[in-house]
Amino acid sequence: MSSGTKFTELNNLVKTNSGVFDSGLSKDFNYTDGAEIEQKLSSILSTVKDLSSNSAELDKNISDWPTEYHLSSTRANLLRGLDLSKITRVLELGCGCGSISRYIGEQEGIQLDAIEGSAIRASLAAKRCQDLPNVTISTGNFNQFEFPENYYDLVLYVGVTEYAGRFSERETDQEALQDLLALAKRSSKGDGVVLVAIENRTGLKYMMGASEDHYGIPYIGIDGYQNSTGIRTYTKEEWLAEISKAGYKFNRFVYPFPDYKVPTLMLHESCIANPVKVKQALNKIKSRDYCVDFDLGDSEKWLWNSIIEVEAIDKFSNSFMLLLSNDESKLIEIADFDVIEYQQILHNYRKKNPSFLTENDMQRQKFIEARQRLEKRVSSLKKDLLAMQNHADNLQNKIDLMTESRGWTALNRLRSLFGKN
Ligand SMILES: C[S@@+](CC[C@H](N)C(=O)[O-])C[C@H]1O[C@@H](n2cnc3c(N)ncnc32)[C@H](O)[C@@H]1O
Repeated sequence: MSSGTKFTELNNLVKTNSGVFDSGLSKDFNYTDGAEIEQKLSSILSTVKDLSSNSAELDKNISDWPTEYHLSSTRANLLRGLDLSKITRVLELGCGCGSISRYIGEQEGIQLDAIEGSAIRASLAAKRCQDLPNVTISTGNFNQFEFPENYYDLVLYVGVTEYAGRFSERETDQEALQDLLALAKRSSKGDGVVLVAIENRTGLKYMMGASEDHYGIPYIGIDGYQNSTGIRTYTKEEWLAEISKAGYKFNRFVYPFPDYKVPTLMLHESCIANPVKVKQALNKIKSRDYCVDFDLGDSEKWLWNSIIEVEAIDKFSNSFMLLLSNDESKLIEIADFDVIEYQQILHNYRKKNPSFLTENDMQRQKFIEARQRLEKRVSSLKKDLLAMQNHADNLQNKIDLMTESRGWTALNRLRSLFGKN
């Protein structure tokens, strides 16, 4: 790991035993998957030999949704299609346990400054990147740091801008989001690129009743986050308004499927005009709900096909990867592809807890648990109903057999003779 960078010097950060750069002043940062999971990740990252972004060894250690999210080789599919050959300085804000940092750090000629609010998660990111001298992991709320100006070629917010209001003093989530976009603009070069990966508020799966990922409740995003706790996703139209407010002249949208977390298909906005190609690629996609059981079955294919026909992929894609710049040629250079398909590793894990628990969140947790219990009950009732239907069908068959037997046929004839039928 790196011995320090312009960013760490500017903020007087020193390297601690965990390999993380820290000021010693950072306060508790309320974001966690839970101590047990962090302990499990720490022990995996301490024992495996292959820490790479494509590590089959790490893939083998996946046993639930958090381990999948932090360790899966599928995570880096988000960036694998990008041409980073001309990029030298990268800033990653909210790097979590270093899944994306690892991929960036493996690219030749790149120096990465990655920042994470939670000291424990930062130490896991440092473990993940321990053999990469070009990667520096620092801990603290990035809203409170100084950044070198006009410095980075690429600034990343992967799964972070939705939390803007959560870790900011601003009154609205949108004001907090503008701070994040301004930070990226200030710290990047004039022709630099900002990459944002985030769920789409009106993504198809959310319209079809999947849980909003951060609250664990369906339709809360569709309903416009009436009681936002500082976490909010946006539609494409809402993003376009925020991007223009932030002063970015150019943008490109890339649509990751089933979502930006574990993408196996990346559709660049340029390919949307080719419905046949898009349909073929999308027909294999299965949207996932990371909180409860969810399966759209065959309808998912029909839904995407209709969405393609009405040219509305940008409205209903489950997630976005946005690329912003004031130099359009950089956007063309970095994302020069139309469709990229990756092999799918099939997992269907869900999370037990939201990643941050305050008192309000406990209420939400109870709601999620109640919903899971209800779902179990409904599924067992469905089984009972099916068994009863089978039983009724059997009885009906028996009756049919009996009434068709000779004795019954004769009796029925007699009845009809005497007008009893
Ligand atoms: C959903 S996780 C994504 C982690 C990582 N980018 C990845 O893709 O694996 C969001 C992360 O952003 C961090 N984060 C959000 N806001 C932050 C802030 N203001 N300062 C530092 N870290 C922040 C959280 O602590 C959390 O680890």
